[in-house]
Amino acid sequence: MNEIRIDTEHINKYVSVDDLHQIAREILAAKKTLLEGNGKGNDFLGWVNLPEELDPSIVSSIKKDVARLAPKTKLFVVIGIGGSYLGARAVIEALQSEFAAVMPSAHPYVVYAGHTLSEDYYHQLLSLLDGNDYAVAVISKSGTTTEPAVAFRIVKAHLEAKYGREEAAQRIIAITDARRGALHDIAVQEHYPMYVIPDNVGGRFSVLTPVGLLPIAMAGYDIDALLRGARDMRQLCISCDDINENPALLYAAVRNILYRRGRKVEMLVNFLPNLKYVSEWWKQLYGESEGKEGKGILPHSLSFTTDLHSMGQYVQQGERLMFETFISVDKPSSSVAIPADEQNLDGINYLLGKSLNEINHNAELGTMIAHRGGGVPVLKIQVPRVDEYVLGQLIYFFEFACGVSGYTLGVNPFDQPGVEAYKKNMFILLGKPGYEGQQLV
Ligand code: PA5
Repeated sequence: MNEIRIDTEHINKYVSVDDLHQIAREILAAKKTLLEGNGKGNDFLGWVNLPEELDPSIVSSIKKDVARLAPKTKLFVVIGIGGSYLGARAVIEALQSEFAAVMPSAHPYVVYAGHTLSEDYYHQLLSLLDGNDYAVAVISKSGTTTEPAVAFRIVKAHLEAKYGREEAAQRIIAITDARRGALHDIAVQEHYPMYVIPDNVGGRFSVLTPVGLLPIAMAGYDIDALLRGARDMRQLCISCDDINENPALLYAAVRNILYRRGRKVEMLVNFLPNLKYVSEWWKQLYGESEGKEGKGILPHSLSFTTDLHSMGQYVQQGERLMFETFISVDKPSSSVAIPADEQNLDGINYLLGKSLNEINHNAELGTMIAHRGGGVPVLKIQVPRVDEYVLGQLIYFFEFACGVSGYTLGVNPFDQPGVEAYKKNMFILLGKPGYEGQQLV
C-alpha cells in the first residue's frame, strides 16, 4: 500500500497541469531508460531491484550477528562516510528517542566514526569506548577511503587492547567489496565476519544492503518492515506510468520544471527534529547524483519551526532562487498535553485542548501559505507516521525519483567524479606515496 502522497496545492501557481503534461514524456523516457538499464551509469543499477532480490540469507545472517553481539554490546560503532553511514543514521535517528544517548535501552546505542578527521572527536570517542562494551561495523565499498581507514585503525587498536585480538575479531564486522580493497584484505586476513556490498550498488544507494541493514537491526529496528516498505514502493514506482499517481515521477517532474525556471535550490523541510538525518541522507543522494557538469539543484535542508527563527527571514523575503519540499508527518508516535494554567500569564491558554501535533501542523500550514505568498513554490510529501515501513517507502521513493530526475537533467546520476579532487590534494599535501611532485588541482 502506498503511504506517500504528493500534495501539489501550494505549487499550482508555479507548476500547472499543462507543465506536468508537457514534461511527462521526458519523465517517462527517463524512467524507461532507468528500468531498461541503457542509460549513463547503468552498471550501478542494482538498487532498483534490491528490495525484491536481496538474498533472505543476508537478512537472517544480520539477525544472527545482532543476536550474537547485542547482549554483550552497549555501543555499536559504525565506521563509514557518505553513503556508507548516512542511510543507517537517517533511519536510526528517525526512529530512536532524541535522548537515546542518555536513556536506558535494551539495544546497543549506535555511535559514528570515519565520517570526520577531527582529532578531538576521536579523543572523545576513545574515552567513551574505555568505559563501555562495544562492537564495530567498518563499512567502505572501495575499502580504501582515508577517513574510515584512519578511524578503523584507531578503533581497532583500542578494541584489541581492551578485549585481546581474538575477541576483538569477533566484535568487528566488515562490510565491503567482495574481492578488492584494503578493508577486504584486512577482513580476510583477520577472519572478520564479512558482508558484501554488491558491485552494482553505489554508496548512496546502498542503505537497503547490509550497509544500512546491519546498523539498523543492531539498534533494535525492524529491517523486515523496512524492506517490505521499500518493496511496496518499488512495485508502484516501476509499474505506474501516470505521473500524477506515481509519487516518484511526480516529484522528479516538479523539481525539473522548477529548476528550468531558475529555482536552483531545493530546501527539504521537516517539522520533526528526528528527521534531520533523513535530510542529510537526501542531500547526499541528490547532491552527489545531480551536481555535475555545471548542473543540478543545490539540495539544502531546514528543520522547522527551529529554523524559522534563523532562516525563515531569508526564505520569506530573500532572493527567490529556491523551492521547498516539506515532509509532512500526519501522526506523532506519542502525545504530550499542554497543562492548564488559570493565571495564563504566558497567554497561551487559547491552545488548551489542542494537541502539540495540531499546533505543529498549524505552524506547518501557516508556513506553507506564508512562503507560497512570499514567492516560494512549496511541494508537500505527506506520510502517515514515521516507522520502519514508511521509512522503507520513503527511501525507495527518493532513490527512484533521483534516478529519474538525474536522467531528465541529462547527467549520470550514479557516479561522483568530483569527489576525487579534494582527495588528490589531500594526498599530495600529506605526501602519500605515488603522489610525489604532483600539482594541486
Ligand atoms: O555515494 C557514494 O558512493 C559515496 O558517498 C561513498 O559512499 C563515500 O565516498 C564512501 O566511499 P566508500 O564506501 O568507498 O568508503
